[in-house]
Amino acid sequence: MQRIKLVSPDKAYMEQVLNYKKEFIENQEDFAGSGGLRLTSDYDEWLTMLVDNSCDATVREGLVPASTYLAVTIEDNRLVGMIDIRHRLNDYLENFGGHIGYSIKRSERKQGYATEMLNLALDVCKNLQISPVLVTCDKENLGSAKTIINNGGQLINEVPEDYRITQRYHIHL
Ligand SMILES: CC(C)(COP(=O)(O)OP(=O)(O)OC[C@H]1O[C@@H](n2cnc3c(N)ncnc32)[C@H](O)[C@@H]1OP(=O)(O)O)[C@@H](O)C(=O)NCCC(=O)NCCS
Repeated sequence: MQRIKLVSPDKAYMEQVLNYKKEFIENQEDFAGSGGLRLTSDYDEWLTMLVDNSCDATVREGLVPASTYLAVTIEDNRLVGMIDIRHRLNDYLENFGGHIGYSIKRSERKQGYATEMLNLALDVCKNLQISPVLVTCDKENLGSAKTIINNGGQLINEVPEDYRITQRYHIHL
């Protein structure tokens, strides 16, 4: 049964998004899939940034167009995760970042939400005619690796960078 849906961020989610951000900062965690939320403390500015970064004409230099979604519970509109879908790859994304970045709120982890959220994001990728979808993770990030494998990810290779190893997976749609 579907428990969450993807929605575009808007004013209504301001409080939940800012709490989400606070929690990640407090825990000094990788704030993945947030459409650059850490770059600004102004929520409206972030919303504008997302719109600008969603199309070729206005995307910030050096970035590719991307769509950012909130994963919220269908039952009570509770924010559980965030996910970025990059519409195409550049050199960095090809090797390390991939098409998709995501995170789940700490208190909502290990309940299958990342697996469900990635699955919903793959529907968006299908509409954008992205296939194969490249999804990457740090080799030590077992939760993320399993999330990708749960969605049909096939390990392509591993890329060493400094002290870490990035795993690259393909998901064929
Ligand atoms: C990685 C992350 C998204 C996983 O979210 P989640 O909602 O807990 O994932 P799921 O509940 O869908 O779990 C998927 C699988 O991974 C396992 N898992 C989750 N967290 C795990 C962990 N810390 N260690 C080992 N396994 C873990 C789950 O048990 C599940 O296994 P199963 O399929 O065998 O049942 C979440 O921990 C997170 O937001 N981390 C910080 C940001 C991040 O690392 N993003 C990914 C960048 S590539």
